[in-house]
Amino acid sequence: MKDFTLENLTDAVVEAYTTNAASPRQAQIIGSLVRHLHAFAKDVELTEAEWFEGIQFLTATGKKCDDKRQEFILLSDTLGLSMVVDAINHPKGGLGTESTVLGPFYVEGSPIVESGANIIKRDIGGEVVLVTGKVTDAAGKPLAGATLEVWQTANNQLYDVQDPDAPEWNLRATIKAKDDGAFSFVSEKPTSYPVPTDGPVGQLLAAGGRHAFRPAHLHFMVKAPGHETLTTHIFADGDPYLDSDAVFATKAALVAKFELSEDATLAAKYGLKVPFTTMHYEFGLTAQ
Ligand code: BEZ
Ligand code: FE
Repeated sequence: MKDFTLENLTDAVVEAYTTNAASPRQAQIIGSLVRHLHAFAKDVELTEAEWFEGIQFLTATGKKCDDKRQEFILLSDTLGLSMVVDAINHPKGGLGTESTVLGPFYVEGSPIVESGANIIKRDIGGEVVLVTGKVTDAAGKPLAGATLEVWQTANNQLYDVQDPDAPEWNLRATIKAKDDGAFSFVSEKPTSYPVPTDGPVGQLLAAGGRHAFRPAHLHFMVKAPGHETLTTHIFADGDPYLDSDAVFATKAALVAKFELSEDATLAAKYGLKVPFTTMHYEFGLTAQ
């Protein structure tokens, strides 16, 4: 029979999970996970009470999840794990625009609208902004057939899916870029906002003495035929939380200026009052 001890237990568990694993990759992942979990417990000399608290935390995290709320994604984000996975898969210095976290508020299937559309469904005093830009390949050549899914918070710091009073698809759409890659839409200037703190992740942030805020940003998921999908944000220059994002997702190249424009022709084209706020960004996608 086996005589399990602190010294031989880790090797025994790894062997049990890897000998007949479904694939070499499965064996590699589960083996490494077991080694790191055991090493963590040994490192901090985890007490039984502490591990029970950990299990209660994970249980509460699961219970907080439903079709609108994904507390496990929020946990991964606030622990910086989502950005580790992002950085492994989209290394800095690669071609094209940098990526960042998807976040828990993405909703598939937003209404497809033509470039130039206004995606504000309700006026609660947000600063109207004309967003313009271009979708190109990584070398700057315009791409035809691109779409940009965009989603962002309203002036009350909430995404439509967090706000029972928001009209469906408020500040959320799939923009069809033109054949020369150019796109534009009218939206609101995003505001900084706290990630949800009414669940276990909020307790974790408080226990770590951390604030819950994210710097103001628009989310984009950009697609074009023959190219990798780009999931990213554009952050508002000057935001006070750019140095302390609750989910560690900021990148210098993703910061853009929101500037006042006096261009009366452009204002008339989009039905805006002069002066109005504009933001311009060009996305470069890498080939598949
Ligand atoms: C977001 O930007 O929507 C987000 C990202 C990570 C955690 C919470 C929110
Ligand atoms: Fe966000």
